[in-house]
Amino acid sequence: GAGKIAVLRALPGSASRLLADSGATVVTSPLDRPLNRDELHVMVAGASGIVATLTDHIDGSVVAAAGGTLQVVANVAAGYDNIDVSALNAAGVTVTNTPDVLTAATADFTLALILAATRRLIEADQLVRSGVLWEWSPSFLVGNGLEGKRLGIVGLGNIGQAVAHRARAFGMEIVHSSRRHQREPGSKLVSFEELLQTSDVITLHCPLTSATRHLIGEQAIAQMKAGVCLINTGRGQLIDEDALTRALEEGRIGSAGLDVFENEPRIDARLRALPNVVLAPHIGSATSEARSAMADLAAKNVMAVLRGEEPLTPVRNDAQGHR
Ligand code: GLV
Repeated sequence: GAGKIAVLRALPGSASRLLADSGATVVTSPLDRPLNRDELHVMVAGASGIVATLTDHIDGSVVAAAGGTLQVVANVAAGYDNIDVSALNAAGVTVTNTPDVLTAATADFTLALILAATRRLIEADQLVRSGVLWEWSPSFLVGNGLEGKRLGIVGLGNIGQAVAHRARAFGMEIVHSSRRHQREPGSKLVSFEELLQTSDVITLHCPLTSATRHLIGEQAIAQMKAGVCLINTGRGQLIDEDALTRALEEGRIGSAGLDVFENEPRIDARLRALPNVVLAPHIGSATSEARSAMADLAAKNVMAVLRGEEPLTPVRNDAQGHR
């Protein structure tokens, strides 16, 4: 058989059956919560494949704990900042991720956050739920429109491009600052500074690396237009959350839509107290369609490597270094 495959979280859809049908011994964590380091090391002992998620920190110690049998770590996510890719590759372990299959779901959710933040949907919902008697008036719960506004996309990979495509339908003008990806027709390449200075809505879709950690901090925020709307469905550590909270409190940033946080699931009480933020618990790819496809793709990646074939979506240890 293909040996032991350690699955660190219960998987939706048919992924576990796919793995079991390959003849491997599939060991799924019964805890269904993030494992601590010791639990992780016990789970992976003797494994030739690991199916991991973004809450699992996979580094050289995990390879050592597996004990020399490990060939592949399949992350059930597009991002892989939770994995020390260079350490794993150096140990001969292949790393894979799940791009593409979550692109539409995450782009849809990004638009949901843009719309909710700019139209004050959470404030509106809370007001109605509170039971207070409200009255329509010309200036009641007024937000900002999107038509004719500029959307700045930081990171024009698959998800950034899908966001551009959707935002264009709302009449937005799109700029981006990614020299690496320029396939999206109609999105104008500008410098990062120009993007910050001219965008009405800014949305982050770059990977988390040592180069992008705190990309949005006091300095970047100081350059933004007054009242800008900031959206993050990427990784929390792209933003200096303290600096963001201060700017939101002072109204320099008008609103924010955040699906990811610097120390998730812990979120500062000051940020949680702000009315002008929309907060979601890392659910950007959380559709039944995307999550099943992500699990299936991870399973297929594991099986390909264990059969001695190229995985479908390998992670290359390039610029997207480990944080
Ligand atoms: C989820 O956060 C992912 O990177 O797929």
